[in-house]
Amino acid sequence: MTDRDLLRALRERRSRPRLVAPAPGPGELAELLAVAAGAPDHGRLRPWRFVVVDESARGPLGEAFAAAHAERAPEATPEQLEHSRTKPLRAPLVVVVVASPVAHAKVPQWEQHASAAAVAHGLVLAAAVAGFGAIWRTGWYGDAPKVRAHLGLTAEETVTAWVYLGTPAGPAPAPRPEVPLPVTYLR
Ligand SMILES: Cc1cc2nc3c(=O)[nH]c(=O)nc-3n(C[C@H](O)[C@H](O)[C@H](O)COP(=O)(O)O)c2cc1C
Repeated sequence: MTDRDLLRALRERRSRPRLVAPAPGPGELAELLAVAAGAPDHGRLRPWRFVVVDESARGPLGEAFAAAHAERAPEATPEQLEHSRTKPLRAPLVVVVVASPVAHAKVPQWEQHASAAAVAHGLVLAAAVAGFGAIWRTGWYGDAPKVRAHLGLTAEETVTAWVYLGTPAGPAPAPRPEVPLPVTYLR
């Protein structure tokens, strides 16, 4: 792949909500995480970490989603709980990007969260270049005590992204519309 090919792949990347097996294998995933970990990081604090939810870990995570849903909405119907239970099954692999900010004299918390966001997007971009599909999702589940406990988050940590990964399925999304970019050149 030439540099121009790489730029094209990055420019034409689209999020892929429908993802099937195969997911990146262990070696490929390690490479993608290493690329993502190269995100800008003021003070080299590494204020983030990854929680990998592989194929076999998706079921238990879905149970945690359903339990959190039942706790949040005791009136939820079985169908609604099932909807939550199956959410992690939408891709063969999910990587949770967790922001782990630390108290620091020079690097405020927002910068550390920005670094975690850069890591998440880096993972999405790396997956695309490697020929996989990905989508960054969020939602209330990451704030739910039962899900936080399942992920092993500390009180300071938050979920920045659920990055769903796999092989794209379904029709390719339409090309990104050409719109003027909000750019101002200072004179
Ligand atoms: C912080 C953040 C949270 C997001 N949460 C969701 C989500 O929960 N569900 C979803 O479908 N898309 C979510 N998105 C949007 C997708 O990741 C993606 O950007 C969007 O589908 C546009 O697709 P594109 O990347 O092809 O332009 C989120 C994006 C960001 C930055």
